[in-house]
Amino acid sequence: MATSIDENILLTGFMGSGKTMIGEALAKKLNKPFADIDKIIENKEGMPIKDIFKNEGEAAFRAKEKKEITDYLHADNNAVISVGGGAFLQEETRDLCLQKATVVFLHISWDAWLDRMDMIVATRPVLHGKTISDIYKLYEERQAIYAHHHHSITVDYLDAEEASDKIIEVI
Ligand code: S3P
Repeated sequence: MATSIDENILLTGFMGSGKTMIGEALAKKLNKPFADIDKIIENKEGMPIKDIFKNEGEAAFRAKEKKEITDYLHADNNAVISVGGGAFLQEETRDLCLQKATVVFLHISWDAWLDRMDMIVATRPVLHGKTISDIYKLYEERQAIYAHHHHSITVDYLDAEEASDKIIEVI
């Protein structure tokens, strides 16, 4: 699919695949604004995502996530957008993303993910208390939601500069 660079580019993928850092680098290269939906939620709520999960539960977080993604996409900002790794669990949100943006899936292999794991788990409430085999199961299950994309790249061991260059090549 040929992509116009003049539209939103939205990054999806498993927690820790680098959506925020790669999104920032990509936005700079394409001279677009960058929006990290989780950051927008944290700023609005005045607390980190893990506290939203703790105080209000996952369903409440998912409702905020859906609202912020919907509002942002309807504003037609022509931006690079990073959404949380669970955003595509909500079919309506996912469909809107596919309609209003070029969706790029950042695929990370399980081995590369394990190498980064220590940096990821502490700030991800959906991983708290889970064993490695639980996380692997979640990683596998999630691949089905990330299958909904326009383009994908593998980000294993790439830094944000390299990964964003790779995105520019494929879109
Ligand atoms: C989640 C991913 C997180 C964040 C929340 C839930 C998920 O974002 O939205 O903790 O369910 O995969 P990142 O993918 O940026 O870590």
